[in-house]
Amino acid sequence: MSKRFYVTTAIDYVNGHPHLGHAYEKLIADVIVRTHRSLGQEAFFLTGLDEHGQKVQQAAIAEGKTPQAYCDALAASWKSFAAKLDLTNNDFIRTTETRHKEVVQGILARLHDKGQFYREIYRGFYSTKEETFLTEKDRRPDGTFDLAYGEVIELEEENYYFKLKDHKQWLIDYLERNPSFVSPEIHRNWVLGFLKNNVLEDLCSTRPTERLNWGIPVPFDRNYVTYVWFDALVNYISVPAAHGDPAALGAFDHQPSTINHPLSLWPADIHVIGKDIVKFHAVFWPIMLKAMELPLPNQILVHGWWQKDGEKMSKTTGNVVDPVAVIDEWGVDAFRFYVLRELDIGPDGNWTDAGFQARYSAELANGLGNLVNRSLSMLKRYRNGIVPPSSNELAAEAEKVVVETRALLEQNQLQRALQAIWSLVTRANQYVDQTAPFKLAKDPAKAERLDAVLYNLAEVCRILAVLLWPFLPSTATKIYGQLGLSGVPDKFSAASWGVLAAGHSIGTPAALFPKKDA
Ligand code: MSP
Repeated sequence: MSKRFYVTTAIDYVNGHPHLGHAYEKLIADVIVRTHRSLGQEAFFLTGLDEHGQKVQQAAIAEGKTPQAYCDALAASWKSFAAKLDLTNNDFIRTTETRHKEVVQGILARLHDKGQFYREIYRGFYSTKEETFLTEKDRRPDGTFDLAYGEVIELEEENYYFKLKDHKQWLIDYLERNPSFVSPEIHRNWVLGFLKNNVLEDLCSTRPTERLNWGIPVPFDRNYVTYVWFDALVNYISVPAAHGDPAALGAFDHQPSTINHPLSLWPADIHVIGKDIVKFHAVFWPIMLKAMELPLPNQILVHGWWQKDGEKMSKTTGNVVDPVAVIDEWGVDAFRFYVLRELDIGPDGNWTDAGFQARYSAELANGLGNLVNRSLSMLKRYRNGIVPPSSNELAAEAEKVVVETRALLEQNQLQRALQAIWSLVTRANQYVDQTAPFKLAKDPAKAERLDAVLYNLAEVCRILAVLLWPFLPSTATKIYGQLGLSGVPDKFSAASWGVLAAGHSIGTPAALFPKKDA
């Protein structure tokens, strides 16, 4: 059983509908996973929903529903959102599923037996919105708490704490020895700064059932449920365990019922997350894994946050981007292209409708779409759609782009990979303008030259389909179809020059990105 390349996203809180930020993160993961599959590696992609906790309980009460009924209704719409984005996730975890709850309880029991928890009384401030305890140092100079914490209450409560403190130096050393563990560097530096400049408090890992009952019961004390982050992070292990992964199963005592085709998944290769939850993934999670005696994930890949029109997206002010509406109007590939081309993984980004439309028009309709359409239409018109003898005029340039794109994709440089691919689109469009096949067609003495030009263009279109497949899967497949090739361009190895054979009959050209009225 060989280990699969295992990529996860954060699991989203189910107290609302998906927005641009959720979509962006899932698309990063999807492109990475499709790339690995295209390069011949078996890969497993996990996404899902975080369904417990106070926020969800309150949202359900506000709608007059039980938390489970509330989650079930929303989960259906989140699952269809994953399909709408054309994600190739292999599983979709909901933290209210038995397979997850069993693993969380198994891990809590094991850690409790190993003496990793202790009970203590806490007196102080609590933010319900963030489900977190606050201290004096969280107060602003005027004595109030940041509005992001919502209503802050004072309470006194006894809970179980998970020992984090003692592992601080170990984690600093680990981050220093493994510079790509948290990537990109700006987010790694933040983690190191956080660890070096703060006292690492132990993690309050339970909530009393009298205050919150929408959570996973703590196996060693039924007066408590599990703190939502302790529950949510474990999804990265509970799904492998449910698929029979031997490493994940080693973390707790309960064995699930027989699994016919066990998979080897853990450790995760990449956890894709947003910058706001780095502390949970790069501080709490490694220490939890260490206590479970499990290997750490290979990388935590951190993306920035999207704004819209320079302002924070907010449901209350209506300043949001609804991915579903954009996809319904422009197509899923246009959306996939824009978010990955516009924003590199790491910094923050800004969505504007004008920026989206400008890229659609310049890069998709007039760039890629125009290239494929005119190349194939000319082949149809001048050669009856029959591929002429092969020619290598653009071979070296195309191969250079293939090598460059592959290297960038292997480093998760998705934005730069798209730039590299577009350098070939631009070059080929230039080639049409320079060689002017429409003029060559008028002169029978130039027939061989026209053959060569048409071959080069068709072959570039084919190679582009292969390079584009991880990003724009349905466009890539359409290009293949229009070239009269069956199947899906999902094997990177097909990106070598000279595969189109003389005499092959292409299909019917059609606009890939219809022009829209301004
Ligand atoms: N449930 C937790 C994650 C648990 S993972 C074990 C959570 N959920 S969330 O719904 O609030 O956020 C899910 C992901 O979406 C996070 O990685 C977050 O950074 C990302 N985004 C939420 N809003 C975003 C933007 N405006 N822009 C980009 N990504 C953002 O946190």
